[in-house]
Amino acid sequence: MNASAPAPIVSVITPTFNEVENLPVLVPRIHAALGDTPHEIVIADDNSPDRTWAVAEEIAAGDDSVVVLRRFHDHGLSAAVLDGMSAARAPYLAVIDADLQHDPSVLGEMLARLRAGDADVVVGSREADGGGYGEWSARRRFVSWVAAGIARLFLRVPTGDPMSGYFMLTRGAYESTAAEINPLGFKILLEFIGRNRALRVQDVGYTFANRVHGETKLKPSVIRSYLLAVAELRLGRQINPVFFLYVLVGILGVAVNSVLFTLFEALGFPRIDTGLNEALDPIYSSFVASVVLTTLLLFVINNEFTFWEQRYRGWRTIGALLLYGVMTGVGTLVHVAVFSWLQETGFLFNLIGDDAARVVHNLVGAMVALVVNWYLNTTFVWRRRLV
Ligand code: GDD
Ligand code: MN
Repeated sequence: MNASAPAPIVSVITPTFNEVENLPVLVPRIHAALGDTPHEIVIADDNSPDRTWAVAEEIAAGDDSVVVLRRFHDHGLSAAVLDGMSAARAPYLAVIDADLQHDPSVLGEMLARLRAGDADVVVGSREADGGGYGEWSARRRFVSWVAAGIARLFLRVPTGDPMSGYFMLTRGAYESTAAEINPLGFKILLEFIGRNRALRVQDVGYTFANRVHGETKLKPSVIRSYLLAVAELRLGRQINPVFFLYVLVGILGVAVNSVLFTLFEALGFPRIDTGLNEALDPIYSSFVASVVLTTLLLFVINNEFTFWEQRYRGWRTIGALLLYGVMTGVGTLVHVAVFSWLQETGFLFNLIGDDAARVVHNLVGAMVALVVNWYLNTTFVWRRRLV
């Protein structure tokens, strides 16, 4: 460290994992963006197999303002960012991806907003004026839109881009919140603004750039951990956040089921007379087909997403699917039973009239069935395995 160098005003933390081509481009861009503002760059690398840490150390050898953390434990983006923050010295802390997808040229604007004193956190936002997604695929845009929408709906987060990994905050905001944070996955910004509702947040627009070198580490498991964080921030630690995912998947199932049923009806799926049972005939093949397809889809989503930690692989998946089908059947019986019982007792008829009562009774039945199904599925299908 050069004794004559002024103390940094901003510490720019950049987490790296296999960014060997990007880092040497990023460092001068950050310098250019911050110009005369004294700053340091903290590179938090998880001992990357491509030796990003070695390149970082080389850069640091010729540049006093660069600090390298080569991390061997506690692998992960959020954990690396928190480590970088604890090593940072400046009164303002910024986080930026190393892969050149975040445009460093807005760092100055972010700093100016914090120094003006009206904000504790400034988010680099693709949703704000002047922001954009660049050449994102429709699929990724959709995933991001759904995830951000869920955070806004359940948490009322004060930013248009709660998934952003690009932000700057004051040391005070960092020190008053860091102890609460659950450093799992990618959702470090959401943790800060979700845990500490007193933080004042502003957005600054920037355009997300395409990745040129290396590849993304964002997997479905990252999105899952993001949604679990939304649940935990909303419901607290008493309610299992996986239940929240289960309910979301259930709501998706209801929507898919109605779309399929409507479609099959429009396609003219036949009514079938079995002649076996007066009460059941005719069987609507559109109904049966939509229920079977929805059940299959929900099994796959629950196996690959909701209950990811206990998921089935290979042949055992078939057994699990059959068991799931049985549990779904039990749930349906519960649904019908609760509905019929409420209809018979005429529970709400006098209060709100027949039609509205039927809707409410059905909804109550569905909710009871949902909880029963959750119990059956977590007990018999995706039970916690010990290994
Ligand atoms: N140290 C460390 N450890 N760094 C990591 C790790 C890790 O396990 N995983 C990823 N990184 C670094 C990458 O090297 C990169 O600099 C940055 O974190 C972002 O990782 P990407 O894999 O490029 O993420 P992304 O572009 O798919 O996701 C970005 O957009 C998301 C929202 O759309 C990130 O900014 C996310 O934070 C953000 O949620
Ligand atoms: Mn990226």
